[in-house]
Amino acid sequence: MLLGVNIDHVATLRQARYALLPDSPNAEPSPMQAALDAMSGGADSITIHVRGDRRHMQDRDAFEIRKGCPLPLNLEMGVTAEMTELALAIGPEFACLVPETREEVTTEGGLDVAGRLTEVADCVKALQARDIRVSLFIDPDLHQIEAAQATGAEMVELHTGCFANATGDGLEAELSRLIEAAKAGHAAGIQVNAGHGINYDNLSRLFVVPHLAELNIGHSIVSRAMRVGFTAAVKEMKDLMAAYPSE
Ligand code: PXP
Repeated sequence: MLLGVNIDHVATLRQARYALLPDSPNAEPSPMQAALDAMSGGADSITIHVRGDRRHMQDRDAFEIRKGCPLPLNLEMGVTAEMTELALAIGPEFACLVPETREEVTTEGGLDVAGRLTEVADCVKALQARDIRVSLFIDPDLHQIEAAQATGAEMVELHTGCFANATGDGLEAELSRLIEAAKAGHAAGIQVNAGHGINYDNLSRLFVVPHLAELNIGHSIVSRAMRVGFTAAVKEMKDLMAAYPSE
């Protein structure tokens, strides 16, 4: 199972102080350095989300990381003409299409692929035409899996936010949804990834979900990095992930 490390919140911390001083020589911490540290810790790819409101990652970060970090880059992006143009200019290995609203604290739900089929399919095609492999961030819902297949996307990322917040019977229900969605995605020939809200404690509960190729994890790794450093935080997560049953 591969680990994509989402480093958005390194940029969040920098922007908290330097949003209005983008050219300051003092601007820190550096997302580029975090990408390299994540690589040293065993990350398989780096994930960044350039949001429409540029609240954390800036365009400049994306170009720098693309150029300076040898790991594959996964660009999370809204389904908009602006972001498609930016993605084509950056040229990441992967793009993950996500819903985006300005008010949300973070991505709050999956992309409604079924409800936006033509728009999403057009975006997928534009990216694939430039050799960018596309993932769709969706709720673990069979009808979204079917829609994802119809767009021609190579991958889905199952939204684990509800799983991460659930307890008791709710947790069992969320795991069942994830298991069914993972089986359906795999049967449809789609690579199944997962992400959102995964941390060092809840990770192992996800291990009952089959066919997971990659997890995208951000907030918990950045938080842990404050205590142990970025490289060690990534390595700890990778070590825990090694217990995922292989197929
Ligand atoms: N996957 C997607 C599509 C996301 O939008 C995010 C949050 O930016 C993540 C994974 C990572 O979530 P977290 O920061 O909760 O680990």
